[in-house]
Amino acid sequence: MANKTVLRMGDALLLEQAKPILQFNTPELHTLLADMSETMAYMDGAGIAAPQIGVSLQVVIFGVGSNPRYPDAEQVPYTVLINPTLNFIDDAMEDGWEGCLSVPGMRGVVPRYTRLHYTGFDQFGAPIDRLVSGFHARVVQHECDHLIGVLYPMRIKNLKDFGYTDVLFPNQDIQED
Ligand code: NI
Repeated sequence: MANKTVLRMGDALLLEQAKPILQFNTPELHTLLADMSETMAYMDGAGIAAPQIGVSLQVVIFGVGSNPRYPDAEQVPYTVLINPTLNFIDDAMEDGWEGCLSVPGMRGVVPRYTRLHYTGFDQFGAPIDRLVSGFHARVVQHECDHLIGVLYPMRIKNLKDFGYTDVLFPNQDIQED
């Protein structure tokens, strides 16, 4: 288990389509997840995708617990999601601010589907099947975009809504994600 360097926007690997996991519950998969978990914790992120630490496989983790810094933030259960499939319930979308460990120090407004049905597997191969909305749906869409080579700035509709976090939100302690 080790804290890994997070690839930053501009690295070609972040633009690749990630490959599916073919075998669950392997030492290699557990090591990858430990590396991702430690890196996410070290960087204080809300989620991380395997390609961000240089591994082009369909593995993401995410989770937002209660945090005194964000008393109003919606919590998202800690989740390991492998080989995900996203299904959007309807056309409803909402705008929200996002950041990314691969785009450090910046924030942008990204439209995401409000409601989401997602499926996939955990690290042991157990199926995951959830209907979510709001911030949980946003985090899943952001992380799964990393598996198809999409970074959030590519989804910003108006680049006026993109900038440096400390300029956009002076005097606030904003989490990277
Ligand atoms: Ni990201």
